[in-house]
Amino acid sequence: KVPIPINETVLSYAPGSTERKLLKEAIEAARSFEVDIPMYIGAKEVRTNNKKALRPPHDHQHILGYYHQGDKSHIHAAIQAALDAKRDWEKLAWQERASIFLKAADLIAGPYRNKLNAATMLGQSKNAYQAEIDSACELIDFLRFNVEYMSEIYAQQPPISPRGVWNKVEHRPLEGFVFALTPFNFTAIAGNLPSSVALMGNVVVWKPADTQIYAANVIMQIFKEAGLPDGVINLIYVDGPEAGDIIFKHPDFAGIHFTGSTAVFQNIWKTIGENIHRYKTYPRIVGETGGKDFILVHPSANIEIANTAIIRGAFEYQGQKCSAASRVYIPASLWPALKDAMIRDISSFKMGGVEDFSNFINAVIDEKSFDKLTGYIDAAKNDPDVSILIGGNYDKSKGYFIEPTVLVASKPNYITLCDELFGPVLTIFVYEDDQFEETLKLVDETSIYALTGAVIAQDRYAIAQATESLKNAAGNFYINDKCTGAVVGQQPFGGARGSGTNDKAGSMINLLRWVSPRTIKEVF
Ligand code: NAD
Ligand code: ALA
Repeated sequence: KVPIPINETVLSYAPGSTERKLLKEAIEAARSFEVDIPMYIGAKEVRTNNKKALRPPHDHQHILGYYHQGDKSHIHAAIQAALDAKRDWEKLAWQERASIFLKAADLIAGPYRNKLNAATMLGQSKNAYQAEIDSACELIDFLRFNVEYMSEIYAQQPPISPRGVWNKVEHRPLEGFVFALTPFNFTAIAGNLPSSVALMGNVVVWKPADTQIYAANVIMQIFKEAGLPDGVINLIYVDGPEAGDIIFKHPDFAGIHFTGSTAVFQNIWKTIGENIHRYKTYPRIVGETGGKDFILVHPSANIEIANTAIIRGAFEYQGQKCSAASRVYIPASLWPALKDAMIRDISSFKMGGVEDFSNFINAVIDEKSFDKLTGYIDAAKNDPDVSILIGGNYDKSKGYFIEPTVLVASKPNYITLCDELFGPVLTIFVYEDDQFEETLKLVDETSIYALTGAVIAQDRYAIAQATESLKNAAGNFYINDKCTGAVVGQQPFGGARGSGTNDKAGSMINLLRWVSPRTIKEVF
């Protein structure tokens, strides 16, 4: 048996607390030291002549440090290092592999907590509370719960072996290496994607988003300190398409563990299809992708529950969560009161850098994202089909700051009710109270993505109706809660349709994708 996991307690960093003081010191230390971040390939820390600066999105003139950008030769080297490490790694007893990742979880929970939270805060402009949930608690939970699920997988054996026969299933790792490709917005995802694959005995080439490298480096240091052998996870900073070009043509490519945008994943899938004849085995394709997540408010809803769900769902971490609420459907009878409550709360939010813990809203990740989001806001300012309830201002002189913005669209297919914006821009559509059924249909039909969704209602019939009608519109569905904040071990996370392969990160379903079972029958 492995240690029974429980969810890591979320620290509050309350004013005057020791935890707040220590986290502030870690932020200060990180800000005053320019870190030099190598790639990790096999036993080597690799430095190149092509150094790139890392800057906090909320303070883009400040340099946090430099990472060493790799090229094609580093992609080849990382693949080779992974394949070289494979034999010893897959021979290691699963309990030994488990120990490494359980130790990594303990290192994050203890000595590395502040360093990793500070890296997430500075590298991604996440406030202390959001960083704590992500880079401490969720990553720790992923590591611990995955070990528990892994032990259950290895215990699964055929139920029947008639006398004279012994039937066994051996949960082998995949034949080849796995590519882990991770997004900017969650340190927990960055840590989970390569580690869950490695836990099951596989070797990995890991490429994080450029804007994730600052925290990825800390994760890699933790894995190393926890005893991860050289070459099991190889961390490289290279151009995504260039990596794809080499990796997806390699005969030993055995799978991809991806989280990121839908467009990138669809391209990857196509490329893998085009190269299918090259591989020794059918690669595992696991991807969690974009979202256009909804909250549907029923006329029976409690106004304050709806208000909290909408505001937290839409604006925590500036809406840069795949799960963030970005479209909300509100009945006309509740709109006046809900509108007032939303304006009251949103106008109280402070916006600024993460170093000041009283700032709730921080910067969006980079200039590209800023320009995309402000493009939608500018278009809305000139469009008669939409009005701005609150927000709409922005400024990128010091950091990429956009006010939390609420648009009210008069057309149900207005562009911001359909496109994934990935930022602090929420769109409301007000429907007539007697049109609830039509609105259910509308929500389902416009769910090209199907990641998260919520219904807010007191009426039990309405809850049942929404749960049934929207059963394919969200992989994670919430009743009287915001549509964000899934907890590992409690709400396995992932979506279908345009939102991914729905292999539920941090679950047995996901880990099963990283084994290739062999059935053995022995006759006595
Ligand atoms: P992204 O797709 O731009 O990048 C993801 C990764 O792919 C990065 O490492 C990037 O460098 C790499 N990449 C980009 N283009 C590539 C290409 N052509 N070939 C190979 N690699 C390439 O995503 P992002 O902006 O970092 O993250 C935001 C997106 O991730 C949003 O769409 C969000 O919804 C999604 N996301 C989904 C989940 C989920 O669980 N469903 C969780 C977090 C984020
Ligand atoms: N697990 C994260 C959430 O549910 C992505 O918000």
